[in-house]
Amino acid sequence: MLKFCTRIRTANVRVSAKEHRLKSVLPERRCGIQFPSTHLGKKTIHPAKTVTGGVAPPGDKSISHRYAMLAGIAEGTSEMSNFALAADCHSTLGCMKALGAEVKVDKTNVRVTGRGLRGLKSSWRALDAGNSGTTIRLLSGILAGQNFTTKIAGDESLNQRPMKRILTPLRQMGARISARDENFAPLEIHGGKLHGIHYEMPMASAQVKSAVLLAGLFADGDTSVQEPTRTRDHTELALEEFGVPIERHGLTTRIVANGSIRLTGRKIEAPGDLSSAVFFIAAASLFEDSTLHIQGVGLNPTRTAILDVFARMGASIQMLSLRSAQGEVIGDIVVKGAPLKGGVIEKAEVPLVIDELPMLAALGPFTEEGIEIRDAAELRVKESDRIAALAANLRRMGAQVEERPDGLKVQGRGAGKLHGAEIEPHGDHRIAMAFAVAALAADSPTTIRDAQCAGVSYPTFYDDLDRVAERA
Ligand code: S3P
Repeated sequence: MLKFCTRIRTANVRVSAKEHRLKSVLPERRCGIQFPSTHLGKKTIHPAKTVTGGVAPPGDKSISHRYAMLAGIAEGTSEMSNFALAADCHSTLGCMKALGAEVKVDKTNVRVTGRGLRGLKSSWRALDAGNSGTTIRLLSGILAGQNFTTKIAGDESLNQRPMKRILTPLRQMGARISARDENFAPLEIHGGKLHGIHYEMPMASAQVKSAVLLAGLFADGDTSVQEPTRTRDHTELALEEFGVPIERHGLTTRIVANGSIRLTGRKIEAPGDLSSAVFFIAAASLFEDSTLHIQGVGLNPTRTAILDVFARMGASIQMLSLRSAQGEVIGDIVVKGAPLKGGVIEKAEVPLVIDELPMLAALGPFTEEGIEIRDAAELRVKESDRIAALAANLRRMGAQVEERPDGLKVQGRGAGKLHGAEIEPHGDHRIAMAFAVAALAADSPTTIRDAQCAGVSYPTFYDDLDRVAERA
């Protein structure tokens, strides 16, 4: 906690001491679980004059995935509140249900009765991870340790995303996994006896780290993972919360296999998703008169690098009412409109803000110096090729953009005002939401095609945006 405060102070953010194409994106039922569905098709966003009021972003997607998985292998019942509405997390719930956990969903309250560490049962059909990289990569770690075989796949986009990054360490632990072209889903995971390894990760990825740690729960011998730079530590915090002791030294995290690992059902609350809040931080920053109160947001220090970036660019952000739940920091954020300077995002900062880069790039044309993103080739293998999608859609709105293999350079205000356009998000939630925000400050209406893809992380996004955006 102390560390956290120091970090945000250095970041110059004020802290009050007081305080597709993807048709399968939102199926109404997946593995028997009902969740909100929206069939928006196109959504038109009209220019705004300011952004005011309050918004509470939905439960954190990353954290909800982990709680759902751990609850499924815990003994007893876990009651989770503010569970993410995100379609992605409902894919995880569907998989856990197919593996034998009892799952009851009542809006954002989710009850999961787990089967214990060794109690999952094989699913008679292939697991459906939908659009969710976190579901397939993390769950593969758990499936590698089972005494049965599981097939797992996702939608068109997910089946094109690289899986070798998890196959390599899981195979080193003794798992037998086959993959299409050695790199892509569908995966067939022949679970079995695993042994602990020490894995030095070649890349900074919380998903890879988590897959290895979760497999480590089932392994003989200790399992440790060393990261090149610190990535989000929700898996570590959630494991501790469910009763698994872990050791952390610098960039290494270890699961000690003492033969008595047991997870116990919990009553837990997911914080609001900072990555979703970022769309509102950006929206409020765009207009001089904005004041927006964003409530109950997760402020885990491994996620808040994006606030450092906003602070560096001149955004006015204040954090209030800090508290902690299950090791996660939660607080409110007050954002006021402020002219943004822009700047460069590169090197070690990139993995820390990887999910927020679409919003930062789409803010480029509204900044003084523009935005340049380097060292971010990973963006090309996210839910869409985000570099290509950003460049093409920014150009549609009239921005000057240079696309590069590992990033892009977006010219600032001097290159002219953006106009409305028809945006193609390529089924990618963060592209759709980033351009819905940019559209608020364009000089004519913008249409987002396939707008419901926002539901992958934030099904009520457009309603929330419409509520806080004041039109002329
Ligand atoms: C996530 C980790 C990140 C992030 C993704 C969610 C997680 O992916 O981009 O949206 O929940 O662990 P990588 O681990 O591939 O960087």
